[in-house]
Amino acid sequence: MRFLVLRENFILLTQQINIFNELMPEVTESRDNLMHFKDKKLASMIVHSFLCFGCVALNFSTELFAMHHLREIPTRFNISQIRRVTMSTISATFDYPSQEDQTAPKILHFGNPKLYEKSLPFKLPEEMPLAHEILEQMKLATKGMGNVGIAAPQIGILKRIVMFAVPATHPRYKTDGVAHPMRIMINPSYTPLSDEKNLEWEGCLSVPGMMGKVWRHTHIQYEYTDLEGNKQTVKASNFHARVFQHEFNHLEGILFPLLVEDKRDFGFTEAIMASDEFRKSRGLG
Ligand code: NI
Repeated sequence: MRFLVLRENFILLTQQINIFNELMPEVTESRDNLMHFKDKKLASMIVHSFLCFGCVALNFSTELFAMHHLREIPTRFNISQIRRVTMSTISATFDYPSQEDQTAPKILHFGNPKLYEKSLPFKLPEEMPLAHEILEQMKLATKGMGNVGIAAPQIGILKRIVMFAVPATHPRYKTDGVAHPMRIMINPSYTPLSDEKNLEWEGCLSVPGMMGKVWRHTHIQYEYTDLEGNKQTVKASNFHARVFQHEFNHLEGILFPLLVEDKRDFGFTEAIMASDEFRKSRGLG
């Protein structure tokens, strides 16, 4: 088994959290511009450190490491162990989720028929308490995962609620440099504001370790009911609009791979991110 992280990301993050010099001797660089960790234990610690640090502080996380690799790591490290070994310079307080947390709802993966079903709207106001309950499950399921968003069907609950926060920057996704705080949306809907569409990369918690290019409306207006029962209307463009459309699609039973037109625009994250085309599109080439 190999443990791979894109070199740029590795260097950037280890520098940002001051463990570059500590970790650099423990990895070897290969011709494909990926870092190969010498042993599994170290790789686990690094990855978990990054996932944890990323989600709370940097909005970086799973882009560092394909989730299908991560899941193969049978580790029981907790943050105090990680800190002791490699993260001694970090003073922030982390709340690292245990992978053995049996109470957290499982994220359903691409192929599970439930993900292709249409979700039901909430009857408001009587079902507002239910929306709050489902939201808690969604938060529990994604705790520490550093994801952009999630929709209730991804934890097997076919009700129309999504949540997302738009990061200002993201190594995998083409962002606008503007962050939008977490929104929780009950019964969301949207209308395109023009015919303009754009083709960009997406990923999904339900499609771990993979990315695909999908056409989305560039400018939309979306509506939803917030947790207090108030109707909200938001105009969104580019990445913000893309994230909304991705999450909304989950409620319709549509996962992003179903929207990939050219099958060559779908593949493993680490392979895509190492490609010349991707690197050029992100100014790395
Ligand atoms: Ni998704």
